[in-house]
Amino acid sequence: MPKDEERCGPRRGPAARFDGVTIAVHWVTLLLVLFLFASAWARDLAEDGARAETLLAAHRSIGLLLWMLTLARLAWRFTGGVHPPLPDSASASQLWAARATEYALYILLAVQPLTGLAQSVLRGKPFGLLVGTMQAIAPRDRALVHLFHDLHEEAAWLLLALIGLHAAAALFHRLVLRDAVLQSILPWRARTNICAAGE
Ligand code: HEM
Ligand code: HEM
Repeated sequence: MPKDEERCGPRRGPAARFDGVTIAVHWVTLLLVLFLFASAWARDLAEDGARAETLLAAHRSIGLLLWMLTLARLAWRFTGGVHPPLPDSASASQLWAARATEYALYILLAVQPLTGLAQSVLRGKPFGLLVGTMQAIAPRDRALVHLFHDLHEEAAWLLLALIGLHAAAALFHRLVLRDAVLQSILPWRARTNICAAGE
């Protein structure tokens, strides 16, 4: 029985996976992002003020947690993380699109919590987090609150669209190209050995 590397080439056989830390952080990030959208939208629908405030406090806190996780993720990526390259069959434009989406996702994950924090701080009042209250540290500035509010809302839609595109590309690899790109980031090992199309 030939080894994975012999069957699939050294670059993207089922053996070529992201490291465990990268895989764990990738999927925890997805859970946190889902929570952030759910809490923001549930808060818009909440009829009772106390519940809306709790949802917003949870939203802010999980958003800040995600920000710290993203910084740690970036540090890990450029120090110890294993990032297998895309299959040799990928064209230059596919490689470019994959990298552009990935970097745009990193940028949005790093910046989005800051626009949220800025709009909260620039209201000029203390605000609640899940653990404790953040004291007012800046005077109220309505114009900037509006600016950061709009940026936060628009970037959230952009983030959602990019996640959709990124997930669709992953499914395209799995279902159409039938290579092992999706398996390389799944928390469990694939049972089937699929390599590039036609193998
Ligand atoms: C990646 C992280 C985050 C994502 C994806 C996210 C996403 C969202 C979304 C979708 C909304 C609803 C927008 C609307 O329809 O008006 C929202 C609202 C809000 N977010 Fe975030 N958020 C994040 C982080 C944060 C952080 C860290 C804070 C503050 C520390 C924050 C503070 C707020 C506030 C105050 C609102 C309500 C704005 C209003 O008054 O309507 N967000 N966020
Ligand atoms: C919050 C949602 C998501 C974000 C922000 C995100 C972000 C990223 C980033 C930055 C990478 C590069 C590796 C890393 O640093 O982790 C990556 C890799 C990957 N993600 Fe996601 N991802 C998300 C959701 C998903 C979903 C839902 C799927 C599948 C349905 C998926 C499939 C993949 C695959 C297959 C790779 C490997 C791509 C490669 O080999 O270059 N991701 N993701």
